[in-house]
Amino acid sequence: MTQKKPLSARRLPSAFQNRDSIDPVERGRGLILEVSGLRMVRDGTVILDGVNWRVRPGEHWVILGGNGSGKTSLLSALTGYRMPTSGAISLLGETYGESDWRELRKRVGLVSSSVRQKMADPEPALETVASGKHAMIDLWGRVTRAENAEASRLLKQVECGHLADRPWGVLSQGERQRVLVARALMARPRVLILDEPCAGLDPAAREHFLQFLQRLGTQAHPPTLVLVTHHVEEIMPVFSRVLVLKNGGVLAAGSKPEVLNSKNLSQAFGTRMRLNRSGRRYALTVTGKTRGMM
Ligand SMILES: Nc1ncnc2c1ncn2[C@@H]1O[C@H](COP(=O)(O)OP(=O)(O)OP(=O)(O)O)[C@@H](O)[C@H]1O
Ligand SMILES: [Mg+2]
Repeated sequence: MTQKKPLSARRLPSAFQNRDSIDPVERGRGLILEVSGLRMVRDGTVILDGVNWRVRPGEHWVILGGNGSGKTSLLSALTGYRMPTSGAISLLGETYGESDWRELRKRVGLVSSSVRQKMADPEPALETVASGKHAMIDLWGRVTRAENAEASRLLKQVECGHLADRPWGVLSQGERQRVLVARALMARPRVLILDEPCAGLDPAAREHFLQFLQRLGTQAHPPTLVLVTHHVEEIMPVFSRVLVLKNGGVLAAGSKPEVLNSKNLSQAFGTRMRLNRSGRRYALTVTGKTRGMM
């Protein structure tokens, strides 16, 4: 076996360098991700505080939480786009701040509305996917033949092979989500983060996409999936763990049977709710008072 090359030591500001808060015994134990004592403050607002989270190999996670609970902020810290105020984040044993963050970022694929908005309308789907190799937008024709072949294979994997020449601008919401997943997979990430990927999909397209995620997560050597959603209906059987955020902190984290219950969800969303299970899927009914509009 070849030895893994250390990442070059390009340093981030000190907020990423608080390595003391990661248990040295746990270091290098094969965790996919370790978030420890994460705090993020912006303009005097505490966005995240005391967030601890561990992702082990073979797990796929769902992150639930009401609007403004800190889900996207947590993901932005994981992908190196927003710097925490304090705390530590380790990915595959490498800690942000001690390793080249641009290299670490490549190991995390992201499908989110902010990525979606950056795509160029005239770009054919195949190029959109190929540009994911270097996480670049608009490649200006610098794609190699091998990269094109890989992009083509991935487009087929997400069942969009027929869209290769179709410009991004005309694709439907569902098609865009799949193309973005293929694009994220182009860099062969170890973790694939999906921030509300089903927003804007019609019920059939949503179910189709969720079934696709189920297959993706159960294939041989899948990337670790992290799905952010507000809807328990989207929790497919492949997701074994759940993290619930509330007011920038962790309300609950652990196995799906432990965490996914009416009490936690009622607390998370601030109103009484009943979780119903149907086979291996879930549904939620609001039974308490809803918040006033605006
Ligand atoms: N730069 C900033 N300054 C002040 N507050 C901020 C800043 N960025 C984010 N916030 C606040 O942090 C909170 C968490 O935002 P975030 O986008 O992480 O929530 P979320 O859980 O993803 O919500 P949603 O479900 O609506 O997507 C929000 O209240 C938001 O207004
Ligand atoms: Mg969000």
